[in-house]
Amino acid sequence: MQNIIIYAFVTLYCCKVSLSSIEISPCAKWNPDGITTAGTGTIGDGPTQLTTPKGIFLLKRTNELYVADFGNQRVQKFSLNSPSSPATTVAFGINAPSKIYVDDDKDEPTIYISVFIGNRVEKWLKGALEGIQLGGECRSCFGITVDEENNVYMSESDRHRVVKWSPQTNLTTVVAGQTDEGGTDDKYLSKPDGLYFDRSSNALYVADSGNSRIQKWEKNALSGIQVAGGNLTGEDAGSLDAPNGVWVDEKTKVVHIADEDNHRIVRWLPGASIGDIIAGGQGMSQRTSHFRKKRKRI
Ligand SMILES: *[C@@H]1O[C@H](CO)[C@@H](O)[C@H](O)[C@H]1NC(C)=O
Ligand SMILES: *[C@@H]1O[C@H](CO)[C@@H](O)[C@H](O)[C@H]1NC(C)=O
Repeated sequence: MQNIIIYAFVTLYCCKVSLSSIEISPCAKWNPDGITTAGTGTIGDGPTQLTTPKGIFLLKRTNELYVADFGNQRVQKFSLNSPSSPATTVAFGINAPSKIYVDDDKDEPTIYISVFIGNRVEKWLKGALEGIQLGGECRSCFGITVDEENNVYMSESDRHRVVKWSPQTNLTTVVAGQTDEGGTDDKYLSKPDGLYFDRSSNALYVADSGNSRIQKWEKNALSGIQVAGGNLTGEDAGSLDAPNGVWVDEKTKVVHIADEDNHRIVRWLPGASIGDIIAGGQGMSQRTSHFRKKRKRI
């Protein structure tokens, strides 16, 4: 029954959009089996390994995948054009990098890193041996994203807010949530995690982890608009469970979510009251055993 509803919704939605300018169709079907693109599946600090990776950023121009290698206190860069090559370390000695953003404006990638235990955001220029701290403290720093003017947005999970740091003024202002006060009302956030800034509409999307929903905060808004989840915490199609990452297709406004405690990636179309699963969603232990079986075959 649920499948029929999802199918009907997707079909209706697809009829309304022109597919010509779109890179990822909102109706795209995804292969249920994944392909390992970074890491080996075994914990370690070797050049092909990762330990508790927390964040990724795909730089489309070079087809390189940057990974916040949380447990190894470094950021690794993998070339997707030669998947068997070892990774390059592009930032190191970082006290628990959680999420990353790579800015490619000047053909020289600059890496922005939220440093979870170090409670700050660092900017690493190409080839740097150390990072530059941006602004003051970012307590229990998780999400990070950057807009066209190089303003940096950071989520402070324990303070239930998202702040914006301006490189012009070196000032930090609160742009979403209420400082040190979590709540469920639309002016609140609770344990905000991953962020996405949609440059085409100047809207900030927040993985509102503690409320199991995704909120959209428009420029200068005093409250957020729910775009996914919110049907309490759960594993049904209308719910999320502690989402920690969000990515928005700026052309279609389809929201893609790392639904952490449901162990799945889900997609929510604009205006939808339910999402559909793109990857995972088989529970944790089953997925792990499936993964092990596949590795044995190789
Ligand atoms: C920017 O602000 C931070 C604290 O908010 C301060 O530690 C730092 O020195 C300032 N940087 C400059 C260049 O003024
Ligand atoms: C919302 O949650 C309730 C209770 O968990 C569940 O029965 C219902 O199916 C959910 N609605 C949707 C649209 O998923």
